[in-house]
Parts: sequence; structure tokens; C-alpha cells
Amino acid sequence: MKQRVKNGYNGKYSSYVNRYDEFGSFHYEEISRRLLQKVDCKKRKMIDVGCGTGILSLSALEKGAASISCVDISTSMLEKCKEKIIEKGYGKDRTSFHEADAEKLPFDENTFDVVLFNMVLGMIPTQQETIKELARVLRPGGTLAVSAHGPAHYREAIEAGLKIMSMRYFLTYRIEFWPRDEKEVQDLFKIADLDKIETERTTWTDEFENGGKAFDFYASTSSLWWYHRLPPKIRKKEVEMNRTYFQNKNVTQITSDVVFAFGTKR
Ligand SMILES: C[S@@+](CC[C@H](N)C(=O)[O-])C[C@H]1O[C@@H](n2cnc3c(N)ncnc32)[C@H](O)[C@@H]1O
Repeated sequence: MKQRVKNGYNGKYSSYVNRYDEFGSFHYEEISRRLLQKVDCKKRKMIDVGCGTGILSLSALEKGAASISCVDISTSMLEKCKEKIIEKGYGKDRTSFHEADAEKLPFDENTFDVVLFNMVLGMIPTQQETIKELARVLRPGGTLAVSAHGPAHYREAIEAGLKIMSMRYFLTYRIEFWPRDEKEVQDLFKIADLDKIETERTTWTDEFENGGKAFDFYASTSSLWWYHRLPPKIRKKEVEMNRTYFQNKNVTQITSDVVFAFGTKR
């Protein structure tokens, strides 16, 4: 699964992911705003794991982070993150970029004051090991701040996708992917021996101008990584069919369901 996600966010299955910021930045800016509401960034040494195009990393810098290490498994997402952060004028004294897997971070233990993990957990098969790894690089007293896809995340888009996409290609998508309610995330934090655990689940619904625009959002932010199941020859046609279905069936609403979780290293 990890390899499929990596391929997806490297644009192997659909070029839609190259338009992640264009169609999805409003969504991740909102989640980042909610996550950072509860995090003191000032003068903190921070890491953003699964940084994507750097939406959250930039917010943390703007909120006064001393430094941020941006980590992603996808070469192309990390490249975009780097370009954007350099363009905004942040230098090597405050930023660094690392292509790495969240489950095996290239840092010593007790390195960071704050570890951020924004909308990545659901893409990782080894979730408990990964939360432990995030806690490992955190210094005692430091904060782990996670947002995770909740059970109803992108509900309407997934339901529409299930109706149109050939079942034999789509079948295991929900089973291996969307994951976590509050209790499950809490348990992951407890087993990683984190203290002062707080969680909050929030849902909201965005209304798009038309079904096509809703599909653009869904496709670019998810990278359509489960399209690995489709024979390469039919992928493009399948994307077009899906978009037309969203358009014709007026799938204009998409729910976001996000579990926010915070914990402190003992
Ligand atoms: C939905 S995007 C979220 C990106 C970013 N956190 C944001 O809020 O915009 C998921 C990101 O996680 C990355 N990712 C997925 N699995 C990963 C892993 N095992 N290690 C590191 N990054 C991973 C993907 O490449 C992608 O950039």
C-alpha cells in the first residue's frame, strides 16, 4: 500500500495530483488552521511529516516556528513544498527537506519540540509503529499533533466512486484506507505512551459549483492512488468517466471528517 500511495502522490496514476494546491489548498489550509490553533509554534523546532506541498509547514513558519523539517515519501510533493517555501524567502537556517517514510524517520530520538502529522495516518498500513516513531523523535515534554481522516471523510465522493468505478478495481479501497474514529486515534497515542491526550472530531461539508469541480477536488487531493488497480491503458478514460458521473449526478457536496489529536511525550 505504501508504494501505491507513494506512486499516486508522484503522479503515476493521474496527473490530477499536480493540481493539489489549485483545487485543494482551501481544504488543507482549513485543517491546518484548526490543528495549529492548539499548538504553540513560537520558537519551536518542528517537523511536518507527510508535508505534501507544504501548506501546514508554511503556516507553522508564519506562526513563528524556529525551524521546520519537511518530510514526505513522494519526491514530487516534497519538491513542490521546497519550491514554495524557498519562494516565500525562508532559508536553510529555518528549513530542511527530507524524502523519507514516516515509519522510519532519519532523525535521532528527542530531536523536536513539535511533531506535526496532517492527514497522512490513513495512508499508512503500520499505524501504531508510525505513531511510536513520531513519538520517538519528539523530546520529552514536546507535542505530537495529528489530524486523521475520520470515517465519513469524502463520503459523497467515495459513494459516487463506488457506483461508477468497476468493482473489481475498487473493492478493497475503503477496507484498507479510511480509518479512524476518535477512540482509535486515542488508543494509538496511549500505546505510544503519550500523556495529556486530547482528541476532537469535526465534520463539515463543502459545496462545489458543480459536480465536475467536486471531482477535481477529490481527485487532486487524494491523488487517486487506488487507480493502481486499473490497467494503465484505461486510467485516463476512467478518470473522465468518473468526472462526468459526478457532473451528471450533481455530486456537489463533499464532507470532511477530521479527527484531531494531541499528546505530550513523557
Ligand atoms: C493528503 S496528503 C496531506 C499533505 C499535507 N500534510 C497537507 O496537509 O497538505 C498526504 C501526504 O502524505 C504523504 N505520505 C503518504 N504516506 C507517507 C509515508 N509513509 N511517509 C511520509 N509521507 C507519506 C503523501 O505523499 C502526501 O504528500
